[in-house]
Amino acid sequence: MTKPSNVLELECSACSKKYDASIEHHLCTCGKPLLARYDLRRAAATLTLEILKARPLTLWRYAEVLPNDDPVSLGEGMTALVLVKRLGASIGLQRLFVKDEGLNPTGSFKARGMTAAVTRAKHLGAKALAAPTAGNAGGALAAYAAAAGLPSVIVMPADTPAANIMECQAFGAKVVKLNGLISDCGKYVAEHKDREGWYDISTLKEPYRVEGKKTMGYELWEQFEGKLPDVILYPTGGGVGLIGMCKAFDEMQEMGWIGAERPRMVAVQAEGCAPIVKAWEAHKSSAAFFPNAATIASGLRVPGPLGDLLILSMLRQTKGTALTVADDEMLQAGRELAALEGIFAAPEGAATVIAARKLAATGWIKPHESVVLFNTGTGYKYTEAWQRALQSARPE
Ligand SMILES: Cc1ncc(COP(=O)(O)O)c(C=O)c1O
Ligand SMILES: [Zn+2]
Repeated sequence: MTKPSNVLELECSACSKKYDASIEHHLCTCGKPLLARYDLRRAAATLTLEILKARPLTLWRYAEVLPNDDPVSLGEGMTALVLVKRLGASIGLQRLFVKDEGLNPTGSFKARGMTAAVTRAKHLGAKALAAPTAGNAGGALAAYAAAAGLPSVIVMPADTPAANIMECQAFGAKVVKLNGLISDCGKYVAEHKDREGWYDISTLKEPYRVEGKKTMGYELWEQFEGKLPDVILYPTGGGVGLIGMCKAFDEMQEMGWIGAERPRMVAVQAEGCAPIVKAWEAHKSSAAFFPNAATIASGLRVPGPLGDLLILSMLRQTKGTALTVADDEMLQAGRELAALEGIFAAPEGAATVIAARKLAATGWIKPHESVVLFNTGTGYKYTEAWQRALQSARPE
């Protein structure tokens, strides 16, 4: 017997066209992503700080605002929010936190999106799951597919970090390596999926990865005891986490938990792949494809994010900003975060340290403001990047 669902329908994020959430949908007919809409009045009746205290420490604790199928779960979510005092002092920020997403199953926040998407796909009768990946999403999909008892196909650039390739193989996925970028991998999945009978789990091409990732916003609210931080710095590739958190904040407002105020969202990108920053600086509402994308932060190597309109509008709505960080700066910041605070970060996470320093130096972030850096992945999977970081640290 199915439990009653709070999901009312799917709605196009661009043209507002509605779709039946009880059957499989991917993109809107207009080509843009679909978002799940809930009966938030009903959700709010049982989703309170008090009730949450007794719930399991996974993101499925927010069941009322997630799909209501039996979860395919590996214990994801409720990651640590670490007050980083020494790093904060070195930047001039009194309330600096790292949300350490490296603590998730498969070592990245991609687990959040995949637990929700795979759960829903399984329930909708998917026979095989496929996705292009910059690295971590592939590992997460392969793991959750294994946990669901479903085959998976992961399509990745041939120069993806070795650990990401190995984990996919270990989880029993079919791994396709292409000489190209994630955008080429996405085309490969799109061209093969119908013939092969794959369920496409690409970023924003199904509605539920956003739902899993939005729980980062719910967790911040819970970890800050019913409040939200002033500023959130997020390493942005496809932007799913940023879109998801902003969606969570809108849902919270509708449930009466918060008012109209929002944390200022900061999209941090690599100098070598910065479509969102380029569009932001040019005051555009959409992003152009970023040519010759190259960065050591493989998760940020997303030259043409499908969610560009959403990301840019959320930066505007929250009075946020967008800025780039160079690869060498990320490597250096990774060492600083590790040595000062004991957090072994992915270069994507380390990028947010530099961004915070730059924004504190210009006064955009004030010393007393509460600031959250998202370390989106563990450093343990980035042996190539860390080798480079530690080599450059050696005395001459
Ligand atoms: C460690 C890490 N950080 C950030 C990102 C970018 O994520 P999003 O698509 O949510 O912007 C990725 C994506 O692969 C990643 O692996
Ligand atoms: Zn549409």
